[in-house]
Amino acid sequence: MNKYQEIQQHLLQHRYHWLVTGAAGFIGSNLVETLLGLGQQVTGLDNFATGHRHNLEQVKESVKKEAWEKFNFIEADIRDAAACQAACQGVDFVLHEAALGSVSRSINDPLTTNATNIGGFLNMLVAARDAGVRRFVYAASSSTYGDHPDLPKIEERIGNPLSPYAVTKYVNELYANVFGRTYGLESIGLRYFNVFGRRQDPNGAYAAVIPQWIAALIRNQPLRINGDGETSRDFCYIDNVVQANLLAALAGKDAANAVYNVALGERTSLNQLYRMMTTALQERFPHVAQHQPEYADFRRGDVRHSQADISKASAALGYQPTHRIGDGLKEAMDWYVRSLSH
Ligand SMILES: NC(=O)c1ccc[n+]([C@@H]2O[C@H](COP(=O)([O-])OP(=O)(O)OC[C@H]3O[C@@H](n4cnc5c(N)ncnc54)[C@H](O)[C@@H]3O)[C@@H](O)[C@H]2O)c1
Repeated sequence: MNKYQEIQQHLLQHRYHWLVTGAAGFIGSNLVETLLGLGQQVTGLDNFATGHRHNLEQVKESVKKEAWEKFNFIEADIRDAAACQAACQGVDFVLHEAALGSVSRSINDPLTTNATNIGGFLNMLVAARDAGVRRFVYAASSSTYGDHPDLPKIEERIGNPLSPYAVTKYVNELYANVFGRTYGLESIGLRYFNVFGRRQDPNGAYAAVIPQWIAALIRNQPLRINGDGETSRDFCYIDNVVQANLLAALAGKDAANAVYNVALGERTSLNQLYRMMTTALQERFPHVAQHQPEYADFRRGDVRHSQADISKASAALGYQPTHRIGDGLKEAMDWYVRSLSH
């Protein structure tokens, strides 16, 4: 039995109270679904800034009735300190996902990104400390590597941030570290690398590349590749991210007050990604065979290449990704084909 299987067994026998912030979002709703499936008591918090009620509706449909009865939802904003205090009452583990994502959004509106991602984060840390939670696991980001040239990325070597978003995610790590030293709050930061999968929003100006492209290909709409297409990313399927969160919450004390890369450890260029998607979708959507991408300028604030070294998470947390990019893309595309066609 591997570490993740052990933890799932443990959770099936022990019920804890979890707070998932950003519960109506992509990653948050997937965390809620898995935790409810394991018989856990879950409080979700969200203000629907970028998340959707239909994500929670889908979770409700996918779990058993008695599991859904253990879910409690608070519509609130993490910029409201009192709401964070109330949400943390009686909670064992916090999985803090609420934030404004997207490098481009942060360049267009640094103030709101800062208020949510730093002010809101600090409210959550204070509330978690005051409530005496066992562990605070939070969504950090690969953007923290900034302009550091090394590949693969190793947790201890970071460069200068390239966007306001990257600044906020790095400040989260600094604050979590200080709360560990000053107040003894146990935390773990998970530096996600380009996560994708079911319920990631395909719409809007700030949509991530995979859902945006899948939707464009299915709908036979134009699709833009920023730069020459040789920009690369370590795309990580949602199930791997859910695994990392549960492992981080229940890992021993020695693993706490640190940050870990959460990715696959592989690099895929945008051109390769485009080919993988068009090949896979052609059978179901013959028009995809004729589809051609448009190439546009490089985007401001974008890192050229990204690839994680995941050995720290493997050694300290027992993290073993179950899905490589091809497996994840297949599952994600099946899901988008179903959900976009009704
Ligand atoms: N998806 C990725 O590739 C990726 C990569 C690195 C880090 N992250 C981080 O992971 C976390 C989850 O991202 P996601 O991809 O699920 O995005 P998402 O936009 O789907 O989810 C974020 C959720 O937070 C909520 N939220 C935003 N502002 C809020 C506020 N002020 N109060 C309460 N709720 C608020 C949104 O409504 C949304 O439901 C974020 O912290 C993000 O920065 C994501």
